[in-house]
Amino acid sequence: MLQHNDQLDHWDRAHFFHPSTHMAAHARGETPNRIVTGGSGAYIVDRDGKKSLDAFAGLYCVNVGYGRTEIAEAISKQAHELAYYHSYVGHGTDASITLAKMIAERAPEGLNRVYFGLSGSDANETNIKLVWYYNNVLGRPEKKKIISRWRGYHGSGVMTGSLTGLQLFHNAFDLPRAPILHTEAPYYFRRADPDMSEDAFSQFCADKLEEMILAEGPDTVAAFIGEPVLGTGGIVPPPSGYWDKIQQVLNKYDVLLIADEVVTGFGRLGSKFGAHHYDIKPDIITIAKGLTSAYAPLSGSIVADRVWKVLEQGSDEMGPIGHGWTYSAHPICAAAGVANLKLVDELDLISNAGTTGGYFNETLREAFADHPNVGEVRGEGLLAAIEFVADKDDRAFFDPTQKIGPQIAAALLERGVIARAMPQGDILGFAPPLCLSREEADTIVTATKGAVEAVMKSL
Ligand SMILES: Cc1ncc(COP(=O)(O)O)c(C=O)c1O
Repeated sequence: MLQHNDQLDHWDRAHFFHPSTHMAAHARGETPNRIVTGGSGAYIVDRDGKKSLDAFAGLYCVNVGYGRTEIAEAISKQAHELAYYHSYVGHGTDASITLAKMIAERAPEGLNRVYFGLSGSDANETNIKLVWYYNNVLGRPEKKKIISRWRGYHGSGVMTGSLTGLQLFHNAFDLPRAPILHTEAPYYFRRADPDMSEDAFSQFCADKLEEMILAEGPDTVAAFIGEPVLGTGGIVPPPSGYWDKIQQVLNKYDVLLIADEVVTGFGRLGSKFGAHHYDIKPDIITIAKGLTSAYAPLSGSIVADRVWKVLEQGSDEMGPIGHGWTYSAHPICAAAGVANLKLVDELDLISNAGTTGGYFNETLREAFADHPNVGEVRGEGLLAAIEFVADKDDRAFFDPTQKIGPQIAAALLERGVIARAMPQGDILGFAPPLCLSREEADTIVTATKGAVEAVMKSL
């Protein structure tokens, strides 16, 4: 039992309902809390003065790194000039209008309209509504089902938690809800047939999708949603040819594509968007995290011109769209976004994500190539994961009660590095700030080797 040795600790355990936390253990003081007080570059520091290299950039969001005064000053300036005005009925601010234009300039061709929200979850909620509205305007009221993927992560709301394909986010919440369906995850490492090539597996995923669309009836399927690289589901880059084959199926049945780029947008893969990286042609792109590097909460839905045209037709027929958030395009958040995107350019962080990310992934791969309990090291840009197995030859899982992933993450933290034990499987995830240096990449790999060795020895 931990000592409740100060007031802040007491208030935390008595009043603060933390997300994704063991509520009872935390309230009883059985688990440590960490009160974070500052950060600089890739490091955070807590009130005990303990520094950690944050190899997960918060929740893969602090892309420019901590302590950027340029963004803090932009926030302050905006708060002094105009902290808030709404964006309903044509209102806007210099910051929100400028940011919309900056996003359109960075987005793939043909995506030019941005609807702002505050979180990745609410942006995906908006996307579902836009897809439904779109089909109603087109006179296709039956075309409403959304296909997501097992292991996808799209948020924690009722609809977005339903889109999410991870057990933890469904358990005891009566999710998923209709009309959401889940298809095969593009998780090559866990393919049922070990002899299948990557291309054959991609074709298998596309065939499964087509089967589902045909079984449901193409006239009832409105959209498919996917992250260019699976994130919370295990940091899994797509098998070769995957997006090409999936898009062929979607085009065949007139099913819209929502690319959830909350993690991959604005440079994490070493490209502006995952859509550029994998030649994806989305109808809607979800953005959040890297849009402001989490200096202020902001998300968005970038809408393709071909969808926008139909939305315009809808308001010509039915009047203003009945969808809005009080804080949509909040000026302070938009100012943070403008300053953040400028900084991403000035510091050339997208190139760094490609080069340092490539170096990091390769070093990690070399470090664990022969480890008997490492099934796979995978990644792209500044996203990486190590998947642990009880037996390398048959990819056998560890007994889940051993909690190998969380144990390794804890051992790594003791060595001064934060990585994330991903929620489903023994997978250690890395998503450091895009300003990561090679030396910092080396620090992460060395500490990870030490942590893995310590945990495996203790088994
Ligand atoms: C791909 C993806 N979509 C949506 C979300 C939800 O974003 P938020 O937590 O801001 O609601 C996340 C969060 O991690 C995500 O990774």
